[in-house]
Amino acid sequence: NSTGTPRHFLSIDDFSYGELRGMLNQAGALKARLKEGDRPQLLKDKVLAMIFERQSTRTRVSFDVGMRQLGGQTLMLSGQEMQLSREETLADTAQVMSRYVDAIMIRILSHADLLELAEAATVPVINGLTRRAHPCQIMADLLTFEEHRGNIKGAKVTWVGDSNNVLHSWVNAAELFGCELTISVPEEYSPEKDLKEDIKRAGSAVRMVEDPREAVEGADLVITDTWVSMGDTDAAERRRILKPYQVNTNLMSLANKDALFMHCLPAHRGDEVTDEVIDGPQSVVFDEAENRLHAQKAVLCWAFGVETN
Ligand code: CP
Ligand code: NVA
Repeated sequence: NSTGTPRHFLSIDDFSYGELRGMLNQAGALKARLKEGDRPQLLKDKVLAMIFERQSTRTRVSFDVGMRQLGGQTLMLSGQEMQLSREETLADTAQVMSRYVDAIMIRILSHADLLELAEAATVPVINGLTRRAHPCQIMADLLTFEEHRGNIKGAKVTWVGDSNNVLHSWVNAAELFGCELTISVPEEYSPEKDLKEDIKRAGSAVRMVEDPREAVEGADLVITDTWVSMGDTDAAERRRILKPYQVNTNLMSLANKDALFMHCLPAHRGDEVTDEVIDGPQSVVFDEAENRLHAQKAVLCWAFGVETN
């Protein structure tokens, strides 16, 4: 299908600032054109295969609709229905699928599995979430923040709650985009080894603050996510330990008055966030969800080497 090294989108830290900025610019441009009813057929006749080993609402619908709006087509595959579930390797699957389709998007818990697939694929592979990273989400988050508040450079961003894949991609983004990321997570769920290493590499862009109240002081953006990610088994224990990290009106009142609130969704209302906050005036969660569509269209165009507007 393609020659040369395919352009994979696996992790935010695989990219330079310039590359990601280019994608965000294109996302904004495509969004503006869509609002005017203009749907440039930049990916006409391209076929994107999507493999879901786990549940998804936003990722699956936004990639599907995004491809269609760009003139392309999609195949929705569940890992369970594929020979993957009967132990065909990711590498063999990648080689076979590369003979049929133009790109592959996959949601799979093991990041090592994602890398195995990407290594063997001769078409672009896009990470639709692993336990380690959720780079498409962070592209949408950056787009959303900048639409509301302008360039994110120097902005104070606070993450409160669990230490997970979305946080990991935020750490990588903070390093590249020069925002000040403060992380407040309980000791029991402190960052795992490779996230710790990325935090270290990010230097002064990222700091850890134990007390969530202290962490949100002066924040321009407060972010949280579910306390129980896909693959976590200890839900009751997590709810107990993470309780003090709930984003409620009390906690939000300690941030800047015009601070935004983000959550990648799905939300577990009453756990990590209250209705008052997620439905309140500072919340931009549905803009954020919408922007998955626009950001991913730009990622797809980049992967296919179609970068002009
Ligand atoms: N935020 C996100 O990735 O949502 P889905 O799990 O619904 O795709
Ligand atoms: N951290 C969550 C994100 C879901 C989109 C999870 O991995 O389940």
